[in-house]
Amino acid sequence: MKYAIIGCGRISGLHLRAARENGLEISALCDLKAEKAEARKAMPGCSEARVYTDHREMLAAEKPDLVAVATESGAHASVALDCIDAGCSVIIEKPIALSMKDAREIVRRADEKGVKVSACHQNRFNKSIHLMREALEKGYFGKLLHGAAYVRWSRDAEYYALDEWRGTWDRDGGALMNQCIHDIDLLRWMMGPGIVDVTAYTDRLAHDYIEAEDFGCAMVRFENGSYGLIEGTTNIYPDDLEEKLCVFGTEGTAKAGGISCNTLEAWSFKRDPHDPEKVMHGSFEDVPNVYGFGHTSLYADVVAAINEGRDPYITARDGAAALELVLAIYLSAAERRTVTLPLGDVSASDFKGRFDK
Ligand SMILES: NC(=O)c1ccc[n+]([C@@H]2O[C@H](COP(=O)([O-])OP(=O)(O)OC[C@H]3O[C@@H](n4cnc5c(N)ncnc54)[C@H](O)[C@@H]3O)[C@@H](O)[C@H]2O)c1
Repeated sequence: MKYAIIGCGRISGLHLRAARENGLEISALCDLKAEKAEARKAMPGCSEARVYTDHREMLAAEKPDLVAVATESGAHASVALDCIDAGCSVIIEKPIALSMKDAREIVRRADEKGVKVSACHQNRFNKSIHLMREALEKGYFGKLLHGAAYVRWSRDAEYYALDEWRGTWDRDGGALMNQCIHDIDLLRWMMGPGIVDVTAYTDRLAHDYIEAEDFGCAMVRFENGSYGLIEGTTNIYPDDLEEKLCVFGTEGTAKAGGISCNTLEAWSFKRDPHDPEKVMHGSFEDVPNVYGFGHTSLYADVVAAINEGRDPYITARDGAAALELVLAIYLSAAERRTVTLPLGDVSASDFKGRFDK
């Protein structure tokens, strides 16, 4: 299967490793900055890849079967739509877009073209999350009561200075859109997906040099009668502290924690026959950073989805749903009201200037 990547920055290394580990032919490396694409040729499996600076030229010349879009977030939608139009299946880094209009267009055109599109919410493949989802699907939680997503991470001035797109409304968004969207996706996936309404606060508390939020908290009412709590920030001193996902039901309690939901910290079910200590111990993944190991599993799933003609485990619709919850939080906080879903054409750009006063 012929593969190409568009955007050869920090996260591209994990994509290229995942592509190689899944036996893909890495045919092209594309980046606006040729030197960034050239630098990736040193990675295993990439030495034969051709370098491009224009993704449309690359798509026309290489005709890849599968493309990863790992550009800055503000470019995801337009680049992904070009890939879809070229008949390629696509893995889009999170968030899949910065506006509902673009996210819905990705879903619509992927359906029209019959290509597979997956949103890169790789934490769904964490062992701990997999076990929680399995328990949910077996009904072990009983009636869902409430869930919580906490992302308590740290991003300093040095991080935001890496690239000019970081922390801007048009090209990135803030802590919720960039960092916390992984856990927000997990919460909606476990407790929902149907959401009635969202009530939220966001603020920029400790990073006056970025445009968007560095803190947010929200309450979510799900259609099944359960509640969700979200707390997300990049303000934690001095380092990343934790990412947690808690799910509470009438017959079960589960908590994934660690630095990025990479271990189970609580596991208690009325009907699960397994020893909770063993399940928790077996769930631990010793991750080198908050990105974890999920990219390789996600690639394996997308390759299988293409070969088997089925949907990927994480679809473009899932990516749009995670985006919708972040944008609902933004809207609720900006307008100081409870927001009902589905959202209209809300975009991160709508909140420009929000913290400037
Ligand atoms: N899934 C995860 O855990 C995870 C982790 C980190 C980053 N990300 C996401 O990945 C994306 C990239 O993040 P990063 O840290 O690698 O950023 P980065 O700035 O290091 O890399 C982005 C690269 O894309 C290139 N680029 C931008 N527009 C382009 C275009 N139109 N065509 C070709 N190249 C283009 C830039 O020149 C840059 O080299 C972001 O959307 C981010 O949210 C996801």
